[in-house]
Amino acid sequence: MAQITACIFDLDGVIVDTAVYHYRAWKRLANELGFDFTEEDNEKLKGISRVKSLELILGWGGIEKTETEREELASRKNTWYVEMIQSMRPDEILPGAKEFLQEMKAAGLKTALGSASKNSGLILERTGLLPLFDVLVDGNHVSASKPNPQVFLKGAEALGIEPANCVVFEDAVAGVEAAIAAGMKVVGIGSAEVLNRADLVVKGLFEIHVPQLNNL
Ligand code: G6P
Ligand code: MG
Repeated sequence: MAQITACIFDLDGVIVDTAVYHYRAWKRLANELGFDFTEEDNEKLKGISRVKSLELILGWGGIEKTETEREELASRKNTWYVEMIQSMRPDEILPGAKEFLQEMKAAGLKTALGSASKNSGLILERTGLLPLFDVLVDGNHVSASKPNPQVFLKGAEALGIEPANCVVFEDAVAGVEAAIAAGMKVVGIGSAEVLNRADLVVKGLFEIHVPQLNNL
């Protein structure tokens, strides 16, 4: 079996819990448009790009908008979201994430970010995690979003490592599919029932250590 030499991490739900900020900003937008948006709805947007999320939300509200209007709405939501993540702090890093990244570095393994978010640089900077990543690939660098494997393939390429030598960490079904399509091993973060195509499912990065990576 191929030796694992790199890990590629999704951001939201794996390294930090930003779902609550996305939720508040989308809810504010939905309320302004005259309908409600629940936490259950928000769950369905995990790993889904900003533009696609807006399309789904407008569909749930039974609202049609032109492309120009949609651009304005997405940018309004993002302004509120960025206002909230500006004040994120290192204590918002999910349990075990920083420790696992440090453990990887100490073992000489490479790390990349593979996220749909266009705000990942700001989040990693605010939480102090930026120095622990060798490469960042996010929504600013891809033309196709998960389940398309592009974000992970670009990460591996930038690291100079073959897909077969990479493990992806993901909390979203679309992300698990993307990792499989990229020819990589994948560890799901969350429920084994939902992420049933992953090679292993854990509750968080606090449950995983470097020696396990070659036994997936
Ligand atoms: C992640 C989150 C999604 C979010 C997407 C885009 O995948 O799980 O909820 O919509 O990133 O984030 P952005 O920061 O670019 O709006
Ligand atoms: Mg995620």
